[in-house]
Amino acid sequence: MYGNDLSPTASPVTRNDDNLEDDTDFQATIDSAGRIEPRDAMPEAYRNNLIRQIAQHAHSEIIGMQPEGNWISRAPSLKRKAILMAKVQDEAGHGLYLYAAAETLGADRADLLDMLHTGRQKYSSIFNYPTLTWADMGAIGWLVDGAAIVNQVPLCRCSYGPYARAMVRVCKEESFHQRQGFEILHTLSNGTPAQHAMAQDAVDRWWWPSLMMFGPPDEASPNTERSMRWGVKRFSNDELRQRFVDMTVPQAEALGLTLPDPELRWNAESEHWDFGEIDFTELFEVIKGNGPCNAQRMAHRRRAHDEGAWVREAASAYAAKRAADDPVQAVA
Ligand SMILES: [Fe+2]
Ligand SMILES: [Fe+2]
Repeated sequence: MYGNDLSPTASPVTRNDDNLEDDTDFQATIDSAGRIEPRDAMPEAYRNNLIRQIAQHAHSEIIGMQPEGNWISRAPSLKRKAILMAKVQDEAGHGLYLYAAAETLGADRADLLDMLHTGRQKYSSIFNYPTLTWADMGAIGWLVDGAAIVNQVPLCRCSYGPYARAMVRVCKEESFHQRQGFEILHTLSNGTPAQHAMAQDAVDRWWWPSLMMFGPPDEASPNTERSMRWGVKRFSNDELRQRFVDMTVPQAEALGLTLPDPELRWNAESEHWDFGEIDFTELFEVIKGNGPCNAQRMAHRRRAHDEGAWVREAASAYAAKRAADDPVQAVA
């Protein structure tokens, strides 16, 4: 789907936009809510910034399969197992759309994966926390996928066409993920006292890391202004975080669970929920690689990549054979 606009003779990689002296057309397109497409001229900084963002997003999708994949064999029923498998498979699909979107900007997927494996590119810090009980599947779906939706819905209007289009489908699937998480917690919360306690414990552990998913506070987020000018970002980190809190507090009430923040209270003046201070030192430590599961996640990812080498080689051999048999078909 994303590769359709590319051909061997007109790859965006071969074009040099370093000296795009006049980016008036580019900015005018963005200012009129138009889309930038792969073959359009764009400043190199815009291209590089998008590659980095989309790659980080793609890496997050595939690393995010690990904490939940861990529970597929331990799901409490066949129905729960089937739903969880479908969800984890969706995340692999999200990674696929996003790597493909990055490729339309001239990035090489193998290079991006290499940057992940060598620690030169990051993934969302949320996936460096462990999943200790079945209730964590509920808390991840409800809170982590819920935060992802709040972050990603505005990206459906992102200025770069392939990224925006990928987000439309991703967001539909994320909303299924969020509801399945809510439903797991709802069942547990209304179950035995032990099940209710398990649900509460999971929410207690995932609440603050979920708020950190929106990134550092606005005053410590220097690239936000530029991303907004480029139409990549539509709302600041703090705006999105507030939107998530406002959306989630009533849902917690419906679940019969509490959120672990004694300072959480409705502010009638601002018409938003006030919340306590976030410990961003924890976020920065996890980003630096010192979260509870960073080393485990990376080791597993590298191992999975190595074990999949034969699949990539077989696919390349098949593509080469197809190209030799029928060059016209292979390009199309
Ligand atoms: Fe996803
Ligand atoms: Fe998801």
